[in-house]
Amino acid sequence: MSSPEPGHDFDPIAPETFTSAHEEFAEMRATCPVAHSETFDGFWALLRYEDVTTVLRSPSMFGTSVQNVVPKVAYTGRRPPLHLDPPEHTPYRQALNPFFTEAATRAHEPMVRQVTVDLLAPFIASGGGDICAGFTHHFSGHVFAEVFNLAPELAMAIKEVTVRYNRALQEADDPTVKATSLELYDIAAKVIEMRKAEPLDDDITSALLAKEYDGQPLPDQMVLGTIRQLLVVGMIAPSVFIGTMVVHLSENPDLQDQLRRDPSLIPAAIEEYLRLYTPYRGFARTANEDVELGGRLIRKDEPIALVYASANRDEAVFPDGDTFILDRPNIDDHIAFGLGPHRCAGESLARAMLRISLEELLARTESITVSGEVVMTRWPEWGTLEVPVSVEPRG
Ligand code: HEM
Repeated sequence: MSSPEPGHDFDPIAPETFTSAHEEFAEMRATCPVAHSETFDGFWALLRYEDVTTVLRSPSMFGTSVQNVVPKVAYTGRRPPLHLDPPEHTPYRQALNPFFTEAATRAHEPMVRQVTVDLLAPFIASGGGDICAGFTHHFSGHVFAEVFNLAPELAMAIKEVTVRYNRALQEADDPTVKATSLELYDIAAKVIEMRKAEPLDDDITSALLAKEYDGQPLPDQMVLGTIRQLLVVGMIAPSVFIGTMVVHLSENPDLQDQLRRDPSLIPAAIEEYLRLYTPYRGFARTANEDVELGGRLIRKDEPIALVYASANRDEAVFPDGDTFILDRPNIDDHIAFGLGPHRCAGESLARAMLRISLEELLARTESITVSGEVVMTRWPEWGTLEVPVSVEPRG
């Protein structure tokens, strides 16, 4: 299958089912672990855990500033921190990290639970529907409105635009992606204007505006890009991932009941779900000189997708990798949140959002059952776009 020259080893835009991409990844890990596709203007894909982590552990050799995702998104400017390499990347993480510590997340938990209940209760009371359209596509926008301390009018706007943006991005509806992307920029620009006029304590935008690098404030355009970046990366993964967990729970009613009986198992279940159903497969790097990986020559600046979703099922690291195993001994080795300088900034908030949504979903239902066709999302994510479910409300 593999050849020394770039060719077309796989087709990332072929229609997928819930299991097909992972079947293909397993085949490629065995036969063509450093693969090339001519789709999306040509890119490499690393399928094995060892190759992916080797790249992540060498940030000075493999950077994000040329191309950080496959397919390349036509973006309206550079969006820190993902689009920058250290040391330029560092001040943005320094400004953001205090807002995403475990303590900061604990402070957000009552709000996240309230948002979850407000969205889920009517969905459950009506007996279900598409949980993505009914819940997951709204969830992050509502949480972000609070995390960014948005005034009611902007909060309304962000809740509404993020739903349209989320869906359009996952359906590759480019005109809507562009239009909604600009709407998100407008919202971010308004937040900056407001915080410049009146900085708030304990506020992400105010902290970014106050941060200095080399004695200079961070440029306005880059603060704008950072807010935009947080909205995108923080929105899509929880959105595709919650539906995915629901599909697995529907197929495993015993596990549903076990987690209902003992919710203290939910964090471990989420960790194993993050490994098994890793929502990102297209974050990318480029090499700053020609390199050889897996016997193939990768040229400087050619995009290399790090297929986290495949690496996390690599049998060399995770025996019985296609199976859900609660309390897997080396679960901490999963790389669903990446590794190295670009490791997810929001992982503690993400874990809380996922845990609380599962806790509330299970506590408020007797059963959750997929009731129609599951529709999958597309590169660069892996997960669900539509999951019709019927739910039996509890008591
Ligand atoms: C299931 C949920 C999530 C998953 C699986 C996830 C995963 C990831 C991964 C794999 C990366 C690294 C990208 C790379 O290697 O190039 C990343 C970066 C990032 N994530 Fe998350 N993420 C999630 C939720 C969130 C949330 C809720 C936020 C914000 C509140 C967030 C903010 C970020 C930011 C800002 C970066 C860029 C970090 C940098 O470049 O330094 N993520 N995420």
